[in-house]
Amino acid sequence: MPKVNVKTDKLTIDVKDGYALIDMCEEHDTSILFGCRDGACGACMVRVVEGAQNLSPMQDDERDFLETMAAEPNERLACQCKVYGDVVLEVSE
Ligand code: FES
Repeated sequence: MPKVNVKTDKLTIDVKDGYALIDMCEEHDTSILFGCRDGACGACMVRVVEGAQNLSPMQDDERDFLETMAAEPNERLACQCKVYGDVVLEVSE
């Protein structure tokens, strides 16, 4: 069972394989915030500290949006990610 460590909250959560990060955040008290839930606002941007390969691959829309936000290479939109293995996340500033 994959583990998601939200470093910012000192919280580690077990999730089902393929579980949506946004669903996990709604079920637990994390400081990852959500707005549009559709990859269009950037509220949910997170820094992937470890395990980037264990998240669902980035689609073109997410890549384009992150480029316009001048995001770091290790940043993702939490609302667009499913979890397939252990990851460590921090809330982006
Ligand atoms: S909630 Fe708006 S981009 Fe993720």
